[in-house]
Amino acid sequence: MTLRQLAAFCESFTTAPSPVLYELERETYLKTMAPQMASGKLQGQFLRFLSWMLRPKRILEIGTFTGYSAICLAEGLAEDGILHTIEANPELAHFGEKYFTKAGLNDKIVAHIGDAFSLIPSLEETFDLVFIDSGKNDYAALYDLVFEKVRTGGFLFVDNVLWDGKVMTDAQDGDTRTIQAFIRKIQTDERVENVLIPVRDGLILIRKL
Ligand SMILES: C[S@@+](CC[C@H](N)C(=O)[O-])C[C@H]1O[C@@H](n2cnc3c(N)ncnc32)[C@H](O)[C@@H]1O
Repeated sequence: MTLRQLAAFCESFTTAPSPVLYELERETYLKTMAPQMASGKLQGQFLRFLSWMLRPKRILEIGTFTGYSAICLAEGLAEDGILHTIEANPELAHFGEKYFTKAGLNDKIVAHIGDAFSLIPSLEETFDLVFIDSGKNDYAALYDLVFEKVRTGGFLFVDNVLWDGKVMTDAQDGDTRTIQAFIRKIQTDERVENVLIPVRDGLILIRKL
């Protein structure tokens, strides 16, 4: 059994995404250069479930892309909850404008266009949940930047930490070594506890103690 077969099997026993997410994924595949960056069905539903379980009041997402994971996470928000999502590429803004409205989440999602490093310091919020899903080279610096804005007992989720399995090898490329260093940093950070889950490309769930 390959990992691809395992993922397909798990997807076949996972509730189908909403029609809006289905349409968003389709448009993402038609109109973007790297559509596989969107969370997709299995990880999307997993994030949605985690959010429903936590019922957060404040979520920060770094790396909106076309808005798939933002919609999944926002669905689990507490009644008066808000999700802030940050995307550096202004050419993607129209996806959020269209699909956050279609999903009925316009009043719950605040979409920021700009660089996360410039925008995060200006967010005057304490977050229950932060989802880091942007450039892999930025993970450690973003983790450090956002850490003090996460409440004690709050969570950070970070995506793509298995890097197609390469983190388990001695691959010498920069991306692999950066992610290896990042997960080692988390594993040795005494301020948190963490669990690395092999969903899609690997998701590390971190709880601030
Ligand atoms: C993997 S995609 C996000 C996928 C999305 N979270 C999902 O699951 O559907 C990463 C996104 O992060 C954005 N990004 C990269 N560096 C960034 C930065 N410093 N600030 C804001 N966005 C950034 C990229 O433009 C890209 O759209």
